[in-house]
Amino acid sequence: MNKPDLKIHIGSLELKNPILVASGTFGYGLESKDFVDINKLGGIVTKSLSLRARKGNPPPRIVETPSGMLNAIGLANIGVERFLKEKLPLLNQYDTKIIVNIAASSVDEYVECVKIMTHEKIDAFEINVSCPNVHEGGLEFGTNVAKVGEITSKTVAVSTKPIIIKLTPNVTRISEFAQIAKDEGAAAVSAINTFVGMSINILSRKPKLFHNTGGLSGPAIKPLAVAKVFQIHKDVDIPIIGIGGITNHEDAIEFFLAGACAVQIGTHNFVEPNCTEKIIIGLEEYFIKNKINSIHEVIGKVNLY
Ligand SMILES: Cc1cc2nc3c(=O)[nH]c(=O)nc-3n(C[C@H](O)[C@H](O)[C@H](O)COP(=O)(O)O)c2cc1C
Repeated sequence: MNKPDLKIHIGSLELKNPILVASGTFGYGLESKDFVDINKLGGIVTKSLSLRARKGNPPPRIVETPSGMLNAIGLANIGVERFLKEKLPLLNQYDTKIIVNIAASSVDEYVECVKIMTHEKIDAFEINVSCPNVHEGGLEFGTNVAKVGEITSKTVAVSTKPIIIKLTPNVTRISEFAQIAKDEGAAAVSAINTFVGMSINILSRKPKLFHNTGGLSGPAIKPLAVAKVFQIHKDVDIPIIGIGGITNHEDAIEFFLAGACAVQIGTHNFVEPNCTEKIIIGLEEYFIKNKINSIHEVIGKVNLY
């Protein structure tokens, strides 16, 4: 049997395979280059960038939890200008797609970031309207359907590249958010960002994170994430990039069956920095063993009762 076809198109974005690294878990894409062959990846999603550099929250910003972790980094980043000068030229040496994730405290800031970067060698923008760990923007935007619509339409209007809206699971009906993203011109949605969680030290009685609450990620959230992808796929005709607790190719296949056309791996990069390479190999082997020629034979093909 020939090599299976893992290629995916999301608007004008062509991914050679559907395995991407998730924002905030792979730095600006270069920090892990000694551990993983970046050329093998379908794409890299950068750490969230804001117009100006941000220091983020004071420590402690990370705590391990059963089958997962809580983080409250608070969008620490070097800002758009330094990214373009110091990181993008190095990233452009690799044969993979570069998706720049943007976080902002106002609609105007999202628009400004896209405007500044849209003519650079960047393949798509992922708009983070879903960070649970900041006081302005973040969830305040991501849990408001009208705001998500406004951010989508205004970023689409100034972008020459596909706009992907990264959704929060901290809402009752995630499909409403996917629908408005589609209606306003998004090429895809990413589902999901982290769940709001909290962990408390029972001796000091202090929260384990300075920010008190944080975003829960890792295998603990995988079934919740698969269900969100399934819900969106059922309700809205838009490409979905699945995220949440993926550690191996079997996990990725669950997301594809639920309706995702690509996936991002986040927390597991910290555990096994070359896991994405292994997942790509595992996928190919699974496809060959099961006589599947193309990823399109799997997407959304869960056999429901
Ligand atoms: C330490 C850490 C930092 C993160 N930073 C960002 C970020 O800057 N922007 C963003 O959109 N998502 C961020 N995320 C969320 C991930 O991209 C991903 O949506 C989430 O962790 C769920 O996937 P996972 O369970 O595979 O980690 C971060 C996650 C972690 C664990």
